[in-house]
Amino acid sequence: MLDQLEKLYTNACNEIETATSAPALQDWESRYIGRNGEIKVLLRSVGQLPAEQRAAFGKRANEIRDELTALHSRREELIRQRELAHSFESGEIDVTLPGRPTPMGGIHPANQTLREITEIWADMGFQVFRTREVEDDETNFELLNIPQHHPARDMWDTFHTTTPGVILRTHTSPGQIHAMRHFAPGPIRVILPGMCYRYEQISTRKEIQFNQVEGLAVGTNIRLSDLKGTMTSFLHRMLGEDKKVRFRSSYFPFTEPSMEVDVECIICGGQGCSVCKYSGWLEVAGCGMVHPVVLRNGGYDPATHSGFAFGMGPERITMLKHDIKDIRYFWGNDLRFLEQF
Ligand code: PHE
Repeated sequence: MLDQLEKLYTNACNEIETATSAPALQDWESRYIGRNGEIKVLLRSVGQLPAEQRAAFGKRANEIRDELTALHSRREELIRQRELAHSFESGEIDVTLPGRPTPMGGIHPANQTLREITEIWADMGFQVFRTREVEDDETNFELLNIPQHHPARDMWDTFHTTTPGVILRTHTSPGQIHAMRHFAPGPIRVILPGMCYRYEQISTRKEIQFNQVEGLAVGTNIRLSDLKGTMTSFLHRMLGEDKKVRFRSSYFPFTEPSMEVDVECIICGGQGCSVCKYSGWLEVAGCGMVHPVVLRNGGYDPATHSGFAFGMGPERITMLKHDIKDIRYFWGNDLRFLEQF
């Protein structure tokens, strides 16, 4: 019976060479290693052997089955390759046809800028703190030192909801209150990125929705020079180390003193062009030292604590960087625009 087994092995090895198609290989498989194949049949009659030979026979039979199985998968792959090559040659597949392009999604230009901004501030120790887009009037205005009927409210045209006192946030600054109430009385280093809404006449420079990135640092020893230094190093990393930065005095109800930050025009390098309206400077952010009233509303004692805050518009920075002339492109969903980024 051992002879029979070895003969079966030799036959199987020779015969597989003649299997040149998938069906022929399948025949070979069921003939030798299948459920009712020759090996199985031989194994079933192992009882006819003298007891002392059975173990050796079984061992060899298993070895042969394993080898034939390996041989089978190698052959299978070979046949598959050959059939593929054949179908190429016979023209069933036209390899000269151009492939069908799979459209690739991209990151929206505003989000690209947001990510860049987040990364730079993260390097400087600022963590992202997210707050709500649907705000109450109190947090969006009053706690930021903008009382009802105060003329400063004109700076933020507001979308109201049908629920009195519930509005869409007009800036990310109410996030300052949320962050302070979350971290008080500890130190704060956060940025608050997110969508804001304003009831504006839409134009090339104004949209009713846009992103802002608010920044807030609160501690026991934060000074105006910290704001200027931090802001300047951010802008250098964001727009170029060689760019001049200047701080202009301004007004926001929630900061005192308040400033606007300008960067030397990145398009003309300060020579004057249409992007900077021939001034040589681009306005990129509002900022200032957190107003004592706001600190107190956030749960800090202005006698021991101080802080700085800033707010910038990533869409605006993207427009400056790429000389985009119309802010409406950002939410217009025009692929011709989006695919350029
Ligand atoms: N919230 C202000 C705006 O929307 C920007 C700002 C933020 C100014 C923080 C100062 C400090 O115009």
